[in-house]
Amino acid sequence: MDKFLIKGPTKLNGQVDISGSKNAALPIMTACLGKPGVYLLKNVPNLRDTRTMAKLLEIIGCKVKSQSNTILIDSTECDNPQAPYELVKTMRASFYVLGPLLSRFAYAKVSLPGGCAWGPRPIDYHMKAFEALGAEINLDSGYIETTGKLKGTKIVFPKPSVGATGNVLMACMNLEEDVFIHNASCEPEIVDLCNFLIQTGVSINGIGTDKLHVKGVKASHVQDIDYTIIPDRIEAGTFMIACAMCGGDITINNVNVNHLDIVIDKLIQSGCDISIGENQIKIKSNQNINPVDIITDVYPGYPTDLQAQWIALMSTANGRSHVTDTIYNDRFTHVAELLRLGANISMDSNIAIINGIDSLKGAQVMSTDIRASASLIIAAMSASGETNLSRIYHIDRGYEQIENKLTLLGANIVRQSE
Ligand code: UD1
Repeated sequence: MDKFLIKGPTKLNGQVDISGSKNAALPIMTACLGKPGVYLLKNVPNLRDTRTMAKLLEIIGCKVKSQSNTILIDSTECDNPQAPYELVKTMRASFYVLGPLLSRFAYAKVSLPGGCAWGPRPIDYHMKAFEALGAEINLDSGYIETTGKLKGTKIVFPKPSVGATGNVLMACMNLEEDVFIHNASCEPEIVDLCNFLIQTGVSINGIGTDKLHVKGVKASHVQDIDYTIIPDRIEAGTFMIACAMCGGDITINNVNVNHLDIVIDKLIQSGCDISIGENQIKIKSNQNINPVDIITDVYPGYPTDLQAQWIALMSTANGRSHVTDTIYNDRFTHVAELLRLGANISMDSNIAIINGIDSLKGAQVMSTDIRASASLIIAAMSASGETNLSRIYHIDRGYEQIENKLTLLGANIVRQSE
């Protein structure tokens, strides 16, 4: 198992290019299953998760060719609408194949995803929505088997869910009837999926709002699709918070600045100097960090995927702050690891209360999930001395070449294989 040795403190200076969005690329890759065709996807991040997804598409029967950040997916001859436990258990997003497979084959068998590092993550919204669309659902030996010809309907989610909205959108790909989705997710990754589906002939109104009207179209073969995935707003936010905590002056290229409004606003409140270009953000920090509270929320609120990184930043702020996660109440496994670096944080249910201290000190810590790992890397780069961060396979799931990008910015981070 690989680990990172990180020596701090380091300031970050220079330029970094942001990769394509993991959370947009994964559903778009699965959407290629929905209609037989040849799809060229560009700006796909080369990550453990996108490679796992490519493997899953191959098991289902796609031909997949990857070269750097471009993937060519030929789903013409898919004949095995099933997703096995071995892959689904390593990546929840595998569950996304259910919608497009059901749409194309009127059948799909997908392993239940199970829990994750921060507790159970239900799939009841997905299941109720598929039932409303007319699917029959059976649970057998840990697998969900769905069958049936789908029909138009109105689906009202109890609250917005990125995964359930995406899954239902893909289930509608071949359905030539009206489907209304209320309380839909407005996340940029869902907007990107909608824009991709439109290229396959699906009609979608209300994109970017919480009310979507979808009408699919049955096409025998989809051709000439060439689609570029949006930049990863979570990766960009991670680099911005890293600069805020470590101090320095960095330019972040290939970003959609509109996707980062609230993060930019919070960083300005914390004392950073930020200037914005068309696809670029420049951030400067003198490490004089004001305490700033955040409460995670659905887009355009502060993303839960940047909550762990914000707690790291606040651990050396000039005072007390509160970080509340309303999306995942239990998503705080990084707190115990940050304590090992000397942070002063206590928990009150889903609220982290952080008393800022002068500086952190290197220690041996462990990654527990993708974003928790990012928060520990940021904290370790700002800390004095050496941090040994184990189980970094988590970070490889979601951040493309993170140590190379950070090294170019001046960090002292080395990968070691055990
Ligand atoms: C996606 C992202 C993940 C991000 C999360 C929230 C991907 C691959 N993953 O996860 O990085 O942290 O959005 O922005 O894009 N819920 C239910 N029942 C369901 C589905 C969801 O109760 O059937 C609840 C969840 O427990 C959570 C909330 O809805 O409280 C939002 O979850 P959801 O948006 O579905 O997250 P994911 O799509 O799994």
